[in-house]
Amino acid sequence: MLTEIDHVAIAVSDLDAAVAWYADTFDTEVEHREVVESDGVEEALLRVADSYVQLLTPTRDDSPVAKYLERRGEGLHHIGYRVDSCAEALERVKAQGHRVIDDAPRPGSRGTTVAFVHPKTAFGTLIELVEE
Ligand code: CO
Repeated sequence: MLTEIDHVAIAVSDLDAAVAWYADTFDTEVEHREVVESDGVEEALLRVADSYVQLLTPTRDDSPVAKYLERRGEGLHHIGYRVDSCAEALERVKAQGHRVIDDAPRPGSRGTTVAFVHPKTAFGTLIELVEE
């Protein structure tokens, strides 16, 4: 059901600084950068093989990522698993009584379809189901 790690998302306070750090340290390039207005975030995607490191920063104070940074500081925010069908994977999670953040699939960045599973139900890890 999970076909690939789509991305590992890291919450940062200063996106440009984090992009520069990865470029200087690991010679990475930004493959995609996007503001996702609905989530109140800006992201930069660095390709690693068939997956991405996603550097994530809030664009406004009431963004969930802003609250996350306030509470926990910078660091690992979520893991995005690639799936063939976000709807199917989400239904399966819900059918087993697990808690979800998105009740239905919704648009993500890069034209993907996504849904989040609550970390309280998944061993403390926020999970994003990503359909390309
Ligand atoms: Co994500």
